[in-house]
Amino acid sequence: MERVIVTGGAGFIGSAICKYLQSNAEVFVIDNLSFGSRQFIEIDDTHFFNEDILNYQALKKVVEQVKPQVVIHLAAIHFIPYCNAHPFEAAQVNIQGTINVLEAIKPFAKQVLFASTAAVYPIAEGALAETGLTGPMDIYGLSKLAGEHLCQGFYAQTGINTIVARFFNAFGPNETNPHLIPEIQNQILQGHRTISLGNLEPKRDFIHTYDMAVAVSCMLQKLTTGIHTINLGSGVEYAVTEIVDAFSRQLGEEIKINIDPNRIRKVERMHLLADVTKLKALGWQHTVSIDAGIKTLLQN
Ligand SMILES: NC(=O)c1ccc[n+]([C@@H]2O[C@H](COP(=O)([O-])OP(=O)(O)OC[C@H]3O[C@@H](n4cnc5c(N)ncnc54)[C@H](O)[C@@H]3O)[C@@H](O)[C@H]2O)c1
Repeated sequence: MERVIVTGGAGFIGSAICKYLQSNAEVFVIDNLSFGSRQFIEIDDTHFFNEDILNYQALKKVVEQVKPQVVIHLAAIHFIPYCNAHPFEAAQVNIQGTINVLEAIKPFAKQVLFASTAAVYPIAEGALAETGLTGPMDIYGLSKLAGEHLCQGFYAQTGINTIVARFFNAFGPNETNPHLIPEIQNQILQGHRTISLGNLEPKRDFIHTYDMAVAVSCMLQKLTTGIHTINLGSGVEYAVTEIVDAFSRQLGEEIKINIDPNRIRKVERMHLLADVTKLKALGWQHTVSIDAGIKTLLQN
């Protein structure tokens, strides 16, 4: 079985990826549990390393012990409001941490997948293709774009197969940050039927973490040489009101919205939609609909 290291594997998306890969690979996780949780993953202590990717010596030791063939680098500071409030920490973990991971794995890895983000794209209408311009709006997007460039340098220097996956908006179980869907979920599970939200018009490409995990596995299997940049979204965008409607349908109850001025973001993208032509060409398919995914969130 292939040995796979997942940095940030105890996080929201990481836990779904580990679960999916475990049937076909020996999965090891490096996570400092700053945002993730040990309970999210069914991995024994010999396969779990509670380490900070900023500690290069500790990271190198783990990598030398595991000798991974594949590395999926997810560990990052991700929630945009948190990144804006902690720009030094976000830049350090997302840039210095990525340098550390890439340096440490050089002697062993034959394939690396880096979790980039839709936030590297500028504000735009319509579906965003990988060939389009980049233009991040915040420190988070900027730090991830720097990570993409580090991956390009890594590939140029080593020739190790590199995949830059631009993740769009994930939803599913084990959410670690107060994004839109868990915010609605929490208010509903607390019994509210009038929920407080900010901007209602923005549309986002939501993709369930199970579909993301399948897509990551598909990319690792199909893109085995060279360097690739590829969008990982569903290819469908939903307005905030459509998400609330989906909760309402699954609950079988009306949900009203109260616009809370304190929740309205000053800078907001109205659209964020992935062109998933490249991903679909690998044979991947979008399987978990918004309604099916939300149904499981209400059963929590
Ligand atoms: N959630 C989304 O919608 C989304 C969208 C685009 C990109 N991404 C990217 O996908 C990846 C996973 O995101 P997520 O939503 O699962 O976030 P998350 O915060 O749940 O996962 C990140 C994990 O990294 C760990 N981590 C953070 N700093 C670390 C450090 N210094 N050393 C070791 N571990 C550290 C955290 O404990 C956490 O488990 C991130 O790189 C994120 O930027 C996520």
